Amino acid sequence: MKEFKVWDPFVRVFHWSLVAGFAANAFFTDDESALHEWIGYAVLALVALRLLWGLIGPATARFASFLPGPHAVMGQITDIATHRHRTHLGHSPLGALMIVNLLATMIAIGVTGYMMTTNAFWGVDWVEEAHEMLVTWAEVSVVVHIAAVVWESRRTGVNLARAMITGRKRLPEDVNIAS
Ligand code: HEM
Ligand code: HEM
Repeated sequence: MKEFKVWDPFVRVFHWSLVAGFAANAFFTDDESALHEWIGYAVLALVALRLLWGLIGPATARFASFLPGPHAVMGQITDIATHRHRTHLGHSPLGALMIVNLLATMIAIGVTGYMMTTNAFWGVDWVEEAHEMLVTWAEVSVVVHIAAVVWESRRTGVNLARAMITGRKRLPEDVNIAS
């Protein structure tokens, strides 16, 4: 096994705080309570900090280092289709697309949530429906995200969830690293 440091403490704390905040508001808080609004704003603040970190943070946290082009996306799909034993040290291209989706959806949920508290949009049906639909979209995305983490961990032999806790990826000797 070779070990590589990949996720800095900020990325890890951000990730698990986002999981807790999202889950709390989607399943546990009373959605008419002040607590729901505060947790929602905390989620928005976390995402804002993550966007900043994506510009100034260390290499594996930077958007410039992991936002993929079509070539990289096709490369990972080809790996999966042809059983090529290859992994990525940072986020994989398909993983990166999911991350963009999750971050954008969190922002849209926060914005529609805030809109419901304003005089202009209070009681406006489409805003409430949009908030609800976006939460459903996020839930479906999270299920796919978790399934993909489990699938990619088994395919590449790298325990990705563990790396999001410890910050280190342990790679089997026989796996190639995609550039
Ligand atoms: C509400 C649920 C979740 C949300 C909103 C979410 C969101 C995210 C986001 C935004 C990232 C990007 C991290 C960054 O670079 O800042 C990420 C990565 C990741 N998440 Fe989650 N996540 C959720 C649940 C989970 C769970 C339950 C697991 C464990 C199985 C997990 C495992 C991972 C892993 C391993 C990565 C890194 C993927 C890679 O290696 O490229 N996530 N997640
Ligand atoms: C992670 C972020 C958030 C999640 C997961 C979330 C989730 C939810 C869910 C599941 C509902 C119930 C929808 C329904 O079945 O009618 C809801 C309603 C609502 N949310 Fe959020 N929310 C978030 C952020 C926010 C924010 C930031 C605000 C405002 C500052 C907010 C304000 C509201 C309001 C006013 C309602 C409607 C309450 C009513 O029924 O009148 N939410 N939210």
